[in-house]
Amino acid sequence: MSTPLDLYAVAGHPVAHSRSPAIHTAFAAQTGQALRYERLLCPLDGFGAEIQAFAQAGAKGANVTVPFKFEAFALAGQRTARAELAQAANTLRFDAAAPQGWLADNTDGIGLVRDITVNAGVALAGRRVLLLGAGGASAGVLGPIIEARPAEVVMANRTVDKAEAIVARHQAWAAQHGVSLRASGLDAPGEAFDVFINGTAASLGGAGVPVSAQVLRPGSLALDMMYGAAARPFLDWARAHGATGRDGLGMLVEQAAEAFALWRGIRPDTAPVLAALRREVDAS
Ligand code: ATR
Repeated sequence: MSTPLDLYAVAGHPVAHSRSPAIHTAFAAQTGQALRYERLLCPLDGFGAEIQAFAQAGAKGANVTVPFKFEAFALAGQRTARAELAQAANTLRFDAAAPQGWLADNTDGIGLVRDITVNAGVALAGRRVLLLGAGGASAGVLGPIIEARPAEVVMANRTVDKAEAIVARHQAWAAQHGVSLRASGLDAPGEAFDVFINGTAASLGGAGVPVSAQVLRPGSLALDMMYGAAARPFLDWARAHGATGRDGLGMLVEQAAEAFALWRGIRPDTAPVLAALRREVDAS
């Protein structure tokens, strides 16, 4: 009798568009890990029941996407430090009976940092970083950005109060890493940043990027956490102002690799998986 494959899934609403099954299946093939990775569509008011049933059926873990990252964090009995800072989880590992025995992690930020520093080859240490937005996407990456020890991080948001609350939560972490951290509105976040990260969907819908191009300098890295058509307006804007544009595809693959390592204890080589995904997205 053959042993059943270890089961994982991406849980969200919607999930049909998710690239995670293809990414994790590629990682498993590359590393010789015997696992199956599915999509778990959860009703908007039924994430907890759905994910618990999945775990009880013998699954080993799950990635969690919009809009359930906060609920996933709240459910789990154990949390990594970066999940605590984010107050949100994109990765669950079902170590023991639910939910006290679950470990919640957030690999989005380390994925973003790896994509910037390793894949794009742009240093964060000692640099000036502007992070746009104060929703789940931006809050989820601030801790690991600080951990990379830039000289300064500004979190700029339309609703300043939201940025201020997130910044306050990270202030001790920033001091510990020697990072100057502040919140700002969109009017005057500062100028000529080395790295500009967009964690909002603001440039969709034709409104344009909601900050002045003075936030860029020639050769800045301007990264949108989205990819495909959703990232295009931001990338066009960045390139038109002399910056190097980068979409969120690398971040997507790197956050998956970190989750895979947490689950399987082995780190996949992300380069071929990212290259294949890039070809697919460019062709679509
Ligand atoms: P997510 O969890 O994906 O980050 P969210 O919590 O809805 O989504 O946050 C969306 C972010 O995009 C917020 O920072 C939001 O600004 P507010 O906090 O002021 O709402 C930002 N955003 C969305 N549309 C925007 C626009 N047209 N101009 C500026 N910021 C915008």
